[in-house]
Amino acid sequence: MKILVTGSGGREHALVKKLLQNPDVTKVYCAPGNGGTESEEGCENVPLTDPQDLADFAAANQIDMALPGSEDMLVAGIADRFKEKGIPVLGPHRAAALLEGSKCMAKDFMKKYGIKTAAYGNFTDYDEAREYLETAGFPIVLKADGLAAGKGVLICADLAEAVDALDTLMKGRAFGDAGDSIVIEEFLTGVEASILSFYDGKTIMPLLSAKDHKKILEGETGPNTGGMGVISPNPHVDERVMDLFNTEILEPTRRGLDKEGLNFAGVIFFGLMINEKGVYLLEYNLRMGDPETQAVLSLLDSDLLELIQASIEGRLDTVQPEWKSGSSCCVVIASGGYPGSYEKGKKITGIGSSQSDVFIAGAKLENGELYTSGGRVLNVVATGATLEEARRNCYADVSRISFENSVYRKDIGGPVLD
Ligand code: AMP
Ligand code: GLY
Repeated sequence: MKILVTGSGGREHALVKKLLQNPDVTKVYCAPGNGGTESEEGCENVPLTDPQDLADFAAANQIDMALPGSEDMLVAGIADRFKEKGIPVLGPHRAAALLEGSKCMAKDFMKKYGIKTAAYGNFTDYDEAREYLETAGFPIVLKADGLAAGKGVLICADLAEAVDALDTLMKGRAFGDAGDSIVIEEFLTGVEASILSFYDGKTIMPLLSAKDHKKILEGETGPNTGGMGVISPNPHVDERVMDLFNTEILEPTRRGLDKEGLNFAGVIFFGLMINEKGVYLLEYNLRMGDPETQAVLSLLDSDLLELIQASIEGRLDTVQPEWKSGSSCCVVIASGGYPGSYEKGKKITGIGSSQSDVFIAGAKLENGELYTSGGRVLNVVATGATLEEARRNCYADVSRISFENSVYRKDIGGPVLD
């Protein structure tokens, strides 16, 4: 079986590695891939990123299954391009991908189907949005409607900040068209959780919960990033939270997708906020999380390909994922300066001595050596019988790996560890 994975992050490296564990998988192509996917035996990087080129490549190379990774490609309709060529694909068609690609549409969908979420208003007119802010409570959250690489959410402490944010989005057009429509919503406090799930058009099968750490600095301070580390399962997701999630979020989402005719085979990633009032849905992503995937897959005992095939073939109700006991911890090692500007081309050493899985995110191979090529460079993932053990195992390996100006958070999943 030949599989095409698209993307170039640690998530894709983890997916490629897990897929290659199935003996039926004879070849994985990763487009464009990175130094990690290139070094996996059985995987070949393909220098393509355009959806139509990828669909043509898949057809020409008799690909049996495509796994598109990133939201921009899904919103651009990559799943539709694969389907036109008859290639089975794990990913939503364009209409459903808009649940991630348009925050206004997602909020209207949540409201229509009674999914628990923050109170909100959608605005396309600057003056109306400004008027709404005059009487609103603070803090308040402003969100660009379209994709903004995780940067389009602005949390504002008071009216002055909110007006600044509104100007940035709608007048300054900091995110271009993405800010022509905006969501203004109630600020929620609590702890966040990520739940990834597979969907086959009828059944939504949740995977183990995870906890992302989005800020660059310890104590959740500093600017937002794509994610600096993850633990799985999320200690805050207990049975009560799962019950609330299932009845107030998962089930009405399933019903809504069905009613709207938005059924697809793919991933639904629920971004949640948990507080004393219950479990709220902050957002949908229609793809695997990065680095959630790396931490969650490290605890998956079942065969990943089998779950993906069950999604694509509409028989998720017949499979049940098996999980290892214990916990996992994923620490991201980044280039100093990220999420702002940073230098590239630094030689990476110490990976060979690691006991943990080390997934490559922003690094490329040159003459058999790895050199940094991105902001988030490496993901070190360890498991343990307890969260504390997983953390200790992970940080022991993190400290053995080095490159010039590397940075990482020492408090992924708990207090600062050296
Ligand atoms: P989103 O892309 O909608 O998940 O937002 C990105 C991040 O902004 C979330 O992970 C939260 O940390 C934060 N956020 C989004 N919406 C809210 C909200 N209503 N209240 C508090 N924080 C929020
Ligand atoms: N780690 C958050 C995301 O993948 O969106």
